[in-house]
This record gives sequence, C-alpha cells and structure tokens, in this order.
Amino acid sequence: MAASRRCAAVPAATLALVAALLMSAPAAAEVAAAGRYPPLAPGLSFDHYKKSCPKAESIVKDFLKAAIRQNVGLAAALIRLHFHDCFVQGCDASILLDSTPTEKSEQEAGPNLTLRPAAFKAINDIRDHLEKACGRVVSCADIVALAARDSVQLGGGPAYRVPLGRRDSLKPASQDTVNGALPAPTSKVTTLLGALSKINLDATDLVALSGGHTVGIAHCSSFENRLFPTQDATMNQRFAGHLKLTCPVVGTVNTTVNDIRTPNTFDNKYYVDLLNREGLFTSDQDLFTDGRTRPIVENFARSQKAFFEQFIFSYVKMGQIQVLTGSQGQIRANCSARNAGSNDDLPWSVVESVVDAAESLVL
Ligand code: HEM
Repeated sequence: MAASRRCAAVPAATLALVAALLMSAPAAAEVAAAGRYPPLAPGLSFDHYKKSCPKAESIVKDFLKAAIRQNVGLAAALIRLHFHDCFVQGCDASILLDSTPTEKSEQEAGPNLTLRPAAFKAINDIRDHLEKACGRVVSCADIVALAARDSVQLGGGPAYRVPLGRRDSLKPASQDTVNGALPAPTSKVTTLLGALSKINLDATDLVALSGGHTVGIAHCSSFENRLFPTQDATMNQRFAGHLKLTCPVVGTVNTTVNDIRTPNTFDNKYYVDLLNREGLFTSDQDLFTDGRTRPIVENFARSQKAFFEQFIFSYVKMGQIQVLTGSQGQIRANCSARNAGSNDDLPWSVVESVVDAAESLVL
C-alpha cells in the first residue's frame, strides 16, 4: 500500500526521465569495459570489424570460454603470447610464423621456446571459425590481441576494449632481434627500464605489465639462478625452501606457478607476493627492491582497482606497438604461414612507396 502511494506520488515527467536514462544507459558489458585508454594508433579503431565481421569478438570469446574450461593454462599462454608478439617487431603476429627452408621462426629463439603449443593451436582454430563466419577478414594479430583480452577477463581480470585493425607481417624477426627485445628473467629494473623505454613504455607500464605473472607457470631454468650456487638474499627463506623441492639441483626440468597465492586467478596477489619477497624471477622481485618501482608495487598490492585500471592502459598501449595497418602487411589465410604468392621482397604498399619517393624528390 505504502509502496503504491510512493509510486503514485512520482510525477510522470520524472518517470519519463528515468525511463529515458535507462534506455540510453550503456549495456552492462560496456560499463564493465569502461576504463582509461591510451591514444589509439592511427589506423586502429574499436569498431574495425563492425560491418565486415560483427560477430568477431563473440566468436573469439565463445571459443575461449570452452577452451579455457578444458585447459586453464591456456589463458596464461595467450596472455604471454601477445606480449612476445608485440615486443618483437610490433604486434604483427610474426611470432606465429613457422620456420621455412629460408627463414627461422621466432618460435625457435630461446625466450620463445616455452610458449605453449596450445596457444598457437587456439589462434589457428579461432581463425578457422572466423573465416567460416566472415571470410578472410580478421587478422591473426587482432586474434592474438582479442584472445589475450578474453584470457585476462576469463581468468578473473578486468574487461576492456581492444583497438582493432592490425595486419599481419610478411616476415618473422631475426633470432637476434627476438633475443634483444625480450628481457631475460635475470634482469634488474635498470635493464628492464632500458629495454622498455625503447618501445615507449615507462616504469608504471613495467610494473603493471609484469602483473601478467599473476597467472601461469615457469620452468626451473628461469629462476634457478636465485637458488644456486647461493640463495638470493632478497628471497623469502621459506619460499626458497619450497622452490628447492621443485628444483632441487641446477638443470632440473620442472615447473612451478608464477603466483604462489592465487596461481590461476588474474588478480593483484602477484604484488602481495613481491611484498613478501615471494616473487619468482629476479625481474619480478627487483620491482620491489628498486626504489623507482617499489611505490608502484605497493600501490597495486593495496588496490586491485588501481592495478586493473593501469593494466588495461598499459596492455592496450603495448598492444599498439608498431602495428601494421591499412595496406601494410596482409591478412593471413593460415596464421602460421605467409599467404602463398606474397613476396616479402616487395614493399608492403607500392602506392605508399611511390608517394614516399615523390616526396623525397620534392625535398
Ligand atoms: C618484464 C619482463 C618480463 C620477463 C623478464 C618475463 C619472463 C618470463 C619468463 C622467464 C616466464 C616463464 C618461462 C618458463 O620458464 O616457462 C614467463 C612466463 C609468463 N609471462 Fe612473462 N616476462 C615478462 C613480462 C611479461 C608480460 C609483459 C606479460 C603479459 C602481460 C607476461 C606474461 C607471462 C605469463 C602469463 C607467463 C606464464 C605463461 C604460461 O604459463 O604459459 N610476462 N615470463
């Protein structure tokens, strides 16, 4: 009775206003994906496939929901794959190219040997689904970026939007380029900051992106330098004892989880690990030891919200490194191989080269 009186007392104009606001309110998914984004790279947009493949994003997500339910480690593998693609020659799916008689795959370079075959297979499977739905429209580089985004969210992390429109490279990077671009886990903050500054990433990006180690696994070889011959003084004693059970001697082939607290959940516990001196790699723990990055670690350990906001910003920024767009590169028919007949000796865009040549003549 009282409720109906209250309702009746609300003027019609107010009800109309509320109804209008409700109708114009963004969908729940959009609200969840709200956040702070870096400027978009020229040629990328959030609605790149709106007309050509409107279901692209839901096809990727539906596939991964089922695949990650079967294999939780796939999420970590895909999050890492996007990083290893972008840091080397830009986010151009060059990491996916298999070796040919004349070109060695990036996959054969040391830091890439532990990327999981399941991640490469998932990208090709997703591409096949997209081809069936829309033709050869969605690039492998965009699939890698979308798969990484969905893996973050399906693991419990934040939802966010991915700028799209990347195109695929015609060539892999050389082994030297891969080794020079991906920092070693034995690196300290000075080395890490040096490597990241070359691709326009700063200390905050470094700390946020390292938060990717909130999921996944690592082999003993990636951290045994901290156990043998002498134990790293910055490592918690109990944690070291625990690791030595998994890696009792140098050269043990075994794995352990990156985040001892919540190994399969994308959350801020990785930073809590660092506060407790339970970071796995030198490159992790030094983020807490070094005064330049320590306050950022402390902030993310205190506030998951702060971590998620910054992770979105930095991962989207990373996802736009040196992208190929427009008429550059190609859309591969098979993510593991350059399209038949495409000649990597030709310039990416003949038209652009002609324009460039004309401009240099004028100058
Ligand atoms: C800052 C420099 C970084 C270094 C030195 C580094 C190093 C490593 C190493 C050595 C491994 C384990 C490899 C193995 O032993 O199997 C690993 C795993 C992993 N990394 Fe990083 N990483 C860095 C940055 C990142 C970034 C930026 C991300 C993503 C945002 C990321 C995500 C991951 C994930 C998810 C795994 C687990 C993969 C799996 O379980 O298959 N890492 N990283």
